[in-house]
Amino acid sequence: MLRNVTLMKGCDGSVLIDTVNPSSPAEKDSPPNNPSLRGFEVIDNAKARLEAVCARKVSCADILAFAARDSVEITRGLGYEVPAGRKDGRVSLSSEALANLPPPTSNVNQLTQAFANKGLTQEEMVTLSGSHTIGRSHCASFSNRLYNFNSTTSQDPTLDPNYANQLKAACPQGSTNPNLVVPMDPPSPATSDVSYYRGVLSNRGLFTSDQTLLTNQQTLSQVIQNSQNLFGWHIKFSNAMVKMGKIGVLTGNNTGEIRVNCREINS
Ligand code: HEM
Repeated sequence: MLRNVTLMKGCDGSVLIDTVNPSSPAEKDSPPNNPSLRGFEVIDNAKARLEAVCARKVSCADILAFAARDSVEITRGLGYEVPAGRKDGRVSLSSEALANLPPPTSNVNQLTQAFANKGLTQEEMVTLSGSHTIGRSHCASFSNRLYNFNSTTSQDPTLDPNYANQLKAACPQGSTNPNLVVPMDPPSPATSDVSYYRGVLSNRGLFTSDQTLLTNQQTLSQVIQNSQNLFGWHIKFSNAMVKMGKIGVLTGNNTGEIRVNCREINS
């Protein structure tokens, strides 16, 4: 869930809205998000408790930003203050997820551009990619690197062959089981540490978009720095999360609302 805090329409909680009309699916049902995103019930619970004590005061967009911070803190990352006051958007379109979220096959230039489009620097892109220190991925997000990389080689030569074998065991070729997942940072999948960067340096980045950070001098140097400086990365990560949480926010008199149910636009 963390990954989609903002990168689509902005931090307006639009990713929480359920599809009403299947011919116009909502963001959460777009291919990059479904079946990837999970944890919607956590937001629903927080919203229900807030509505019970203080109706219509805390937006779903704010709840999501707080939850992202809490997920960092409970995985032993650094807590940070989250500016509040976001309103919830009234539009959620699958097409916007497709247009704004860079795919895991992206190279470093494509990633840099996608983040720049949202006002984020290349260094912030490297810093935020470190969030792949927690969580898991479905096989479909990286199986091209194992079985059909390109016309000359089936396996991505930049992927550590031992790791590739482990991934192949977890994700058999042709498996149609959509529930197969692997941890993105196997040594410590539930800890916000710098093991992700160490993995990337050992050619164990799970996605092309992780591994590609070694192919550019600046991003390589940041990967090395982060891998050696846990506290430094924590500080940079907190700052980048706060900045990302300000992208496209609806505040004050902008059009927006405080949803009663995070899954539905107010009637
Ligand atoms: C740099 C561009 C990025 C790409 C290409 C990317 C791609 C992906 C992909 C493909 C997955 C696995 C989805 C699945 O198969 O279930 C994933 C998971 C995840 N991403 Fe990213 N991501 C990026 C940036 C980010 C950012 C900026 C954050 C947050 C700051 C983030 C946080 C996460 C988390 C926490 C997960 C695990 C989700 C879970 O365990 O359910 N990602 N990402």
